[in-house]
Amino acid sequence: MANNPGRLVCLCNHVTANEIINVLKAGAQTTFDVQQFTAAGTGCTRCVREINAIVEHHLATKKKDPQLKFDFEAGN
Ligand code: FES
Repeated sequence: MANNPGRLVCLCNHVTANEIINVLKAGAQTTFDVQQFTAAGTGCTRCVREINAIVEHHLATKKKDPQLKFDFEAGN
């Protein structure tokens, strides 16, 4: 996965990596969520593997974020 957030991930529905990352930051948790919010991966499905990789990378990075612990402790 190249580190170019503006790159087109889903050619069928013209969805960029940035758009996928934005829905993940907004609360999407799964590839299915990303598909619901962006339509990425709902055409030929060739890009689903890359969407999965972006979701997994985002969730792994999120777990390392100390802000999440703070939010959890604050009851948010
Ligand atoms: S490239 Fe994403 S559904 Fe076809």
